[in-house]
Amino acid sequence: MKNIVTIAFALVVSAAALTAADVKENWTTHCAKCHGEDGKGDTKMGKKSGAKDYTDAKVLSEMKDDQSFKSVKEGMKKDDKTLMKPAEKLSDDEIKALVAHIRTFKK
Ligand code: HEC
Repeated sequence: MKNIVTIAFALVVSAAALTAADVKENWTTHCAKCHGEDGKGDTKMGKKSGAKDYTDAKVLSEMKDDQSFKSVKEGMKKDDKTLMKPAEKLSDDEIKALVAHIRTFKK
């Protein structure tokens, strides 16, 4: 019984820092216009910039969390074209949570 209480407490504390709703809101505000609300990249800007389908297990398996973090934080370029701007308004923890959020789009 004591263990259950401890675990429940730990969950509440870690969730208090950044709730699932916060992460979702950040995704909607900062990422969805290209990557889509559902991660498919099936938006006007997503198609234009070449955003991949993050519901595709193959695409996800090729993405590495540390590289993804870096790309979101520092932005992503292809030749001289900016694919994705650096996420300047987001903290490292928020970016990490967004990268984890992407993994939940998998079909
Ligand atoms: C202007 C459009 C645009 C916006 C806004 C945008 N992205 Fe991207 N993003 C791209 C494109 C284009 C790529 C490259 C193709 C791909 O991997 O989908 C990319 C790639 C990525 C990758 C893969 C990086 C890698 O190294 O493979 C991740 C993760 C990612 N975006 C997350 C995010 C998150 C999180 C946000 C919001 C903070 C965001 N993106 C906002 C266009 C955008």
